[in-house]
Amino acid sequence: MGEEVTYRVGIPVLGLRGETLGRLEKILFSESRHLVTGLVVRSLESLHMIPLEKVTSVSGTEIRTTLTEQDIRQSSVFDPTQYEEVPPWFFPPGHHIELGALVTIKPLDIREQGEEACRSRRAFMAKSVALLATAIGVSLVVPIGGYIMAAATTPVTDNWRNLGVKLQDLPLDEPVQESFRAVSVSGWMRVPEERSVWLIRHSGAADPWSESEDQKKNLDSPLEKNDSDPRLTVLSPICPHLGCEPQWHKGQKLFICPCHHSIYQLNGNRIGGPAPRPMDQLPVRIAPDGSISVIYEQFAIGIAAKVRLA
Ligand code: FES
Repeated sequence: MGEEVTYRVGIPVLGLRGETLGRLEKILFSESRHLVTGLVVRSLESLHMIPLEKVTSVSGTEIRTTLTEQDIRQSSVFDPTQYEEVPPWFFPPGHHIELGALVTIKPLDIREQGEEACRSRRAFMAKSVALLATAIGVSLVVPIGGYIMAAATTPVTDNWRNLGVKLQDLPLDEPVQESFRAVSVSGWMRVPEERSVWLIRHSGAADPWSESEDQKKNLDSPLEKNDSDPRLTVLSPICPHLGCEPQWHKGQKLFICPCHHSIYQLNGNRIGGPAPRPMDQLPVRIAPDGSISVIYEQFAIGIAAKVRLA
C-alpha cells in the first residue's frame, strides 16, 4: 500500500467474504522501521492484532482483509502494557491518521535505537507532556472539577431514559426535539452530556409515516424492533452522513441537514443528498400513562448499514 492511506478509528474491518470481523481500534507502528505493521481490531469484547500483510484495502469507510472469523479468534490478543502510545505525527508520510486515533509502537523499537536515543526521546516526550498537562490543568481545572462532581452526583440506573414527556402532549405529525442529560462512559470517565432526540407522534397507525424508514428497510436490530410503537417514531438527531444535525423545516415538512443538504421525510426516509441511509430510529417505550422512555444509541456514520457503536 504505497499510496496515501487514511485510517479512521471505528470503521468496520471485513473478512474474506465481506463479513464484519470487528472495528478498527488502533494502528501498530514500528518506529525503528518507520512502518505501519499491523492493526488492532475490536471483535466483541477482545482486541486482536492483525498483520498488515492480511489487509487488502483501506478506505475511509472500511478495511478489507483476507481473514476469516476463525483467523481473528486465533490471532494474538492485543496487550496494551506491551505497547506505547504515540502521537499521529510519528507516522510516515502517506499515512493519514484521523484525529482521535490511538497509535502504538513497540517499546522494543525504542530499545533498538539505543539507550541514549531512548532517554532523550523519553525526556523530550515527558517534558512536552508535563508542559501541556500544566497548561491544560491550569486552564481547565474549574470546568473539569465541575464535570467530575456532576458525573459523581448524576444517577445512572439503566440505558432507558424517561424524557418526562407524555405521548398525549405531543403534536400530531410534527417533530419535537426533546433534550435530556445523560452520562457518557469512556473508560473510567463518566461525563455528563446534553443529548436530544426527535419525537414524531403519528396521527394514525394506518398513515404511511407511522413506520420509520429504517424499520421498513429492515436496518433495525431486534432491540429497536421490539421496542417500537406505531404511535411514535423516535429519531436520532445525528445525520448518518457525517454526523451533523438535520433540522425540521416546518414549511417544507422535511428534515434538512445544514452540512451537505441531505433531505429526509417525516419518517426519516432519505429523499436527497449524500447520506447513505435513513435517519436512525431509536428504541422507545410508552408507559400506560403515556410517559415516553428512550434508549439513546449512536451508530456508525458514512455507511449504509446501521451499526451500533459500543
Ligand atoms: S452531515 Fe448531514 S448531509 Fe452531510
